Amino acid sequence: MGTYLITGATGGIGAAVAGQLRDRGHDLILTGRSPQRLNELARTLRTGAHARTQLMRQGGGPDPDADGPGLRAVVLDLAEPRRLEARLAEEGLPERLDGVIHTAGFVHLGTVDDLEADDWITHMSVNLVSAAELTRLLLPALRAASGDVVFVNSTAGLRANPRWSAYAASKAGLRALADALRAEEPALRVTTLFPGRTATEMQQRVRAQEDKPYDPSDFVSPLTIAKVLVAALEAPTDATVAEVTIRPRQ
Ligand SMILES: NC(=O)c1ccc[n+]([C@@H]2O[C@H](COP(=O)([O-])OP(=O)(O)OC[C@H]3O[C@@H](n4cnc5c(N)ncnc54)[C@H](OP(=O)(O)O)[C@@H]3O)[C@@H](O)[C@H]2O)c1
Repeated sequence: MGTYLITGATGGIGAAVAGQLRDRGHDLILTGRSPQRLNELARTLRTGAHARTQLMRQGGGPDPDADGPGLRAVVLDLAEPRRLEARLAEEGLPERLDGVIHTAGFVHLGTVDDLEADDWITHMSVNLVSAAELTRLLLPALRAASGDVVFVNSTAGLRANPRWSAYAASKAGLRALADALRAEEPALRVTTLFPGRTATEMQQRVRAQEDKPYDPSDFVSPLTIAKVLVAALEAPTDATVAEVTIRPRQ
């Protein structure tokens, strides 16, 4: 069984990925901003359908109850990429990591006329700079396992629509990060997923900002995104699933 670190584990897509990986018996390092949400997720994974008997791993999460066999919770604020190195040093992460899955993300819609420097800085910090910095810090552990790096991008990373400039620019940058990393680190497998609109809290917030109703059945389920992501992780080792686009079925 492997060990995977998931950013944005408390979000719709991240939690679905955590559930899929836990079902397969993998050890998980769950990261997010909120200790409460992390603890809740860890409890669900530990006591629900995902519960598994696994070897005890080292502790160190926000709440001792959140840690346990095969699960560890680590609070990371990705809006502060300069602090990640010290945070990871405090946590003492594993020397071997089978994969890092970047699902954390931030979006706030606005025209170029509306968006201020702080809006741009938050998009870039959370969606791009922290993904690069975290990957850099985890590279030795990933190399040790010939691991996978998965970036949950967005179809907005392929095409910027009005009011999406900051988010789309951060996601276009994330694709560039993935492409360069894939070429630089041939021992690793690097995958970018481009989901279209997906039924999560983020999409609920986006619909509110667009002044449109939110009906989850209009969008892809986060479980579907998680299943595609895990299929990429489980692809035979002679191949890399480099890029996948997933759109809601019309
Ligand atoms: N939903 C969609 O329609 C859609 C479509 C295409 C791509 N995506 C991408 O899919 C990924 C997952 O999104 P989602 O739909 O699952 O959204 P979500 O439910 O809102 O989850 C977002 C996750 O990102 C975390 N996060 C946000 N800001 C953070 C920060 N400063 N530091 C650390 N973690 C932070 C959140 O943590 P907290 O619990 O602390 O808030 C949460 O775990 C994102 O990268 C998003 O851009 C989503």
